[in-house]
Amino acid sequence: MANASGLYTATLPTVRRRFTPSTGIYRSGFWFSEGVSKRIMCSSTVEGADKLSSSESRVPRLVSRGCKLVGCGSAVPGLQISNDDLSKIVDTNDEWISVRTGIRNRRVLSGQIAGLPETYPSFFTGKDSLTSLAAEAAKKALEMAEVDPDDVDLVLMCTSTPEDLFGSAPQIQKTLGCKNNPLAYDITAACSGFVLGLVSAACYIRGGGFKNVLVIGADALSRYVDWTDRGSCILFGDGAGAVLVQACDCEDDGLFAFDLHSDGEGQRHLRATIMQNEVDHVLGTNGSAVGFPPKNSSYSCIQMNGKEVFRFAVRVVPQSIEYALEKAGLTSSNIDWLLLHQANQRIIDAVATRLEVPSERVLSNLANYGNTSAASIPLALDEAVRSGKVQAGHTIAAAGFGAGLTWGSAIVRWG
Ligand code: ACO
Repeated sequence: MANASGLYTATLPTVRRRFTPSTGIYRSGFWFSEGVSKRIMCSSTVEGADKLSSSESRVPRLVSRGCKLVGCGSAVPGLQISNDDLSKIVDTNDEWISVRTGIRNRRVLSGQIAGLPETYPSFFTGKDSLTSLAAEAAKKALEMAEVDPDDVDLVLMCTSTPEDLFGSAPQIQKTLGCKNNPLAYDITAACSGFVLGLVSAACYIRGGGFKNVLVIGADALSRYVDWTDRGSCILFGDGAGAVLVQACDCEDDGLFAFDLHSDGEGQRHLRATIMQNEVDHVLGTNGSAVGFPPKNSSYSCIQMNGKEVFRFAVRVVPQSIEYALEKAGLTSSNIDWLLLHQANQRIIDAVATRLEVPSERVLSNLANYGNTSAASIPLALDEAVRSGKVQAGHTIAAAGFGAGLTWGSAIVRWG
């Protein structure tokens, strides 16, 4: 039972056994006991990939309220950094980066990367902030959904790089001008954050009576990249994407199933940990304070074992999607789109091959933005919706994976 990162996880049959209740019916990852049998149960057969609804799944479902994805938006910083730009600060080149990763450009929030030429004035003077990008993406999602900010019940900001230690979500809520003071908080789950946010939104809607939940994925990993490490600095970019998840009748439910995991053992392969305080013992032998007050803390740059993360991803992601599809009563031939966290084109291709999803049904915008962490899935979704690729009624298998280690997938319908 060694897992993808060479660590330990339950095998698929074991997971299934563990989750199987003696009596009960599951719906989208939740198991219900007979005690909640008053809810409506929907069940029938899948006819085709393009007209799936929750009531068409082969798997019996038990749900009193559904949720659907009704709006999306995205925003990226103005500053674009190409592979050639990076070759000026580390020993790399466009060919190596594009062949090994599929990335050609990335967007970076204003800041300082020592070594870049002064032909990048906006780089030093720009006014982008992650919070404003997230708010812009959220605003676009609300506009598409035709939902007033005052009707938002919850803002979930999925990010590992908030601009306030205590979370950025309330600032987004403020910027949007939601007058009813809806709850707004951050979710930290690295590149799996957006999938977790979607599932959390569904939980609030199905079980908590919420109607409109904004799920935002936004990250600025450029602030934590070691710009002297060519093995990692070429990968990351900054951005934001958002989806409005809305309550609906159970027949229209658009979250068919999900599967979520984490494995703290794998943290050593991908992390940006808090810097150790130089003073080990704050209390002296007689109880007096030594080295007090402590120094303020900060995080290290991203430390990554790329090969291990690669192996981890290509192993667990197909497994997770297959499991979620099975829960939904579907197979990969039923999905219209495969939408993976945009980390490396070779990872995307390997997962698509394993799931036997042809390349024309795989969404990828990695070449333009690199790995934008929690933003990558909603950013790619937004572009695909606005370009007309993803249309109302399409079924999408989405999966995130990354630091933690965390990974998970959700089978959703757009619109
Ligand atoms: N340019 C040129 N050469 C390079 C570069 C570079 N940017 N980076 C590494 N190399 C060299 C190495 O030094 C090595 O040289 P050597 O053979 O002389 O020792 C050679 O290229 C091969 O290096 P590898 O590390 O083996 O290259 P690999 O094919 O594994 O690709 C990569 C590295 C792109 C990082 C890949 O492993 C990867 O994408 N892994 C997944 C990473 C990922 O997705 N991380 C994010 C997860 S999401 C989150 O939560 C943040």
